[in-house]
Amino acid sequence: RQAYVNGRYTPHNDAAVHIEDRGYQFADGVYEVVPVYNGILVDEEPHLDRLERSLRELQIEMPMSRAAMKLVSRELMRRNNLSRGFVYMQITRGVAPRDHKFPTKPTAPALVMTTRQMKPHSAEALEKGVKVITLRDIRWERCDIKSVSLLPNVLGKQAAAEAGAYEAWQIDDEDNITEGTSANAWIVTDSDTVVTRHANNGILNGITRMALLDLIEKEGFTLEERPFSVEEARAAREAFVTSSSSFVMPVTQIDDKPVGNGHPGLLTMKLRETYIAYMN
Ligand code: PDD
Repeated sequence: RQAYVNGRYTPHNDAAVHIEDRGYQFADGVYEVVPVYNGILVDEEPHLDRLERSLRELQIEMPMSRAAMKLVSRELMRRNNLSRGFVYMQITRGVAPRDHKFPTKPTAPALVMTTRQMKPHSAEALEKGVKVITLRDIRWERCDIKSVSLLPNVLGKQAAAEAGAYEAWQIDDEDNITEGTSANAWIVTDSDTVVTRHANNGILNGITRMALLDLIEKEGFTLEERPFSVEEARAAREAFVTSSSSFVMPVTQIDDKPVGNGHPGLLTMKLRETYIAYMN
């Protein structure tokens, strides 16, 4: 397996960046995870749009043209024989003597790309659905930037793992659920309305989220993009999460309470099917 690091393809196990890379010292960088399904990069353009936006917000230059980024991801997929999995792209501000403010002498942004094979989703998770726990959202006010600064997400996911849960849904100061640690949060109400939080600086606007919003509209389901409370989520008929790695994953337990009848929701599974068909 190979990785791409600053202009070179190198064996994955030897791939390394400098110890004074600002990504390593300050988490001063951004990333994207682009799913690869049957050899195709899913929603590549929106992922690159979001990457460029994240970079712009942090005043980091694109390390190369968009066309070149596409070539490198394809070449890496080819070298690694990747047909199902992910391309991971990470761009940091580059290498400079440690000093919090941006380096006065502009640095070359550092680009790393890796690929990873995806295991098929476990049949058990799909049959039974997954559990989520709820936690106070201790992240910052720019969750719209896909930054590599992920400590609160790491702690949240660890807490979920320790509770035997798949995700940790984050609760804001108004007792509304923002999103998971690495996935967007959705519920379906008793009146068959699909609800997910509106995208602002409180969440990462998922590419899967945006694709699914379009599919939901096309299929003619009722949709609301708005905050929803923990209480509303616990009373919901169905719940699920979306992300580049989960696609649409049914949630059947929130903390200690079953969602709806405790089985993956019908609408949820229909949306999962629709999304998988969309990727093909
Ligand atoms: N996570 N919210 C957060 C906080 C995320 O980190 C992610 C993605 C999402 C879903 O976004 P998308 O649909 O574009 O994958 C929502 C990636 C997969 C990760 O960190 O591995």
